[in-house]
Amino acid sequence: MSYWTHEYLLKTYGGPMVQAEYIRDMAKPFFTPRVFSGFNLFLNKSQLIPDAVDLIARESRSKRAFIVTDEYARRFAPQVQSPYEKRHGFRFDMWAKAQPDAPIDSVRDCAAQISRFGPDLIFALGGGSAMDTAKAAWLLYEHPGVNVESLSPLVPLNLRNKAKFVAIPTTSGTGSEVSGVAVISFPDGVKLPVAGALPEMVPDYALLDPTFTLGMPPELTAGTGGDALAHAIDGFMAPKSDELNQAIALKSIEMIFDWLPRAYADGSDIMARMKMQQAAMMAGIPLANGGSGMSHALGHTVGGLFHIHHGMMVLLFIPYELQVYARVTERHLKLCDMLGVRDPASDEKSLFNLIDRIRDLMKSLNMPIGLKDAGVALRDLEKNMDFMLDQAPTDPAFYFAWYDLNRDQLKDIFLAAHEGGMLDMNSDAWR
Ligand SMILES: [Fe+2]
Repeated sequence: MSYWTHEYLLKTYGGPMVQAEYIRDMAKPFFTPRVFSGFNLFLNKSQLIPDAVDLIARESRSKRAFIVTDEYARRFAPQVQSPYEKRHGFRFDMWAKAQPDAPIDSVRDCAAQISRFGPDLIFALGGGSAMDTAKAAWLLYEHPGVNVESLSPLVPLNLRNKAKFVAIPTTSGTGSEVSGVAVISFPDGVKLPVAGALPEMVPDYALLDPTFTLGMPPELTAGTGGDALAHAIDGFMAPKSDELNQAIALKSIEMIFDWLPRAYADGSDIMARMKMQQAAMMAGIPLANGGSGMSHALGHTVGGLFHIHHGMMVLLFIPYELQVYARVTERHLKLCDMLGVRDPASDEKSLFNLIDRIRDLMKSLNMPIGLKDAGVALRDLEKNMDFMLDQAPTDPAFYFAWYDLNRDQLKDIFLAAHEGGMLDMNSDAWR
């Protein structure tokens, strides 16, 4: 199969173009959905003043809406449907077969059912995979003949001729509710980000009801929260990230440090759930508008190979990302200031204080520090090393890193990450 990420021009010039200062300062897009957050988003009775239900209902002429969800999140569907049915006479259809990693076959199945029903409003209800399935199915509904795998991110998608899109997350981490990307998986194991020249796939609305996240078990709370923290740090550190994105990233990092341990310790702590839901949404904004980073390129590679939770893997690589980026930028020192770990006498000490602070949080959430803690044997890592060294640089998240890493440097990171030790920046690989 031929994917857009394999195209020579995009691979060779895509990264530099994304980063080139003269291009990004000519016209900076900043896309977010309209966000509603709180407990009263699905009220069956009209209020004194119009609410989210009224605003979203106005987007639909046909009053036909479609819910894309999965086996778990479908339990919330009646709560979502009810106010639209009772207050605005909507008719609903639903497809509840979203799978982890959003396989292309399930996307096509979903798109076929959407096409049969013909809605002008699509609700994506669930975690990242359900929302990404819904986004890609929306694209196929709008343009049935489109080739998802080879769709260039340099062409417009021309969405919203048939439907608008509402995202309702039931986990707190992926940020898909605010991003213009759908990550779809293919039968040969490739996970491909699908996006257009403009972030048209950014949902029109994001509805954050914290009660929908109450059922997450502690491990999933930690994993998705870890993903959110990695998004915020990636989004803060990305070369393309400007002050607007950095401001949002910084606040979301602070919120995650404050609230994730509480959400992990007591899943029924509704305030912690609400703050984490908001922080994860906020962390998705700089990720979507500023860019991803090294943590995601390396985390995708190892996580895909050894089937380890995405959030755990990407956060595991954040200390290495910070160490590598610190060679060319001092931006991480602002994180040290915010977290109160800056050593005024030594930038190097500050960097390691920051890494310690992040790892203390990971340990408190029982998250792996090294790959061996995640169950990856050294001999399996070494056996797959060549594949990993080939695979990691092809990940589009690398477009958003400060610079390319060579094979020696990548190998050094993978081996250090096995033990959880830090890189020796004076070694041959880094000189
Ligand atoms: Fe992520």
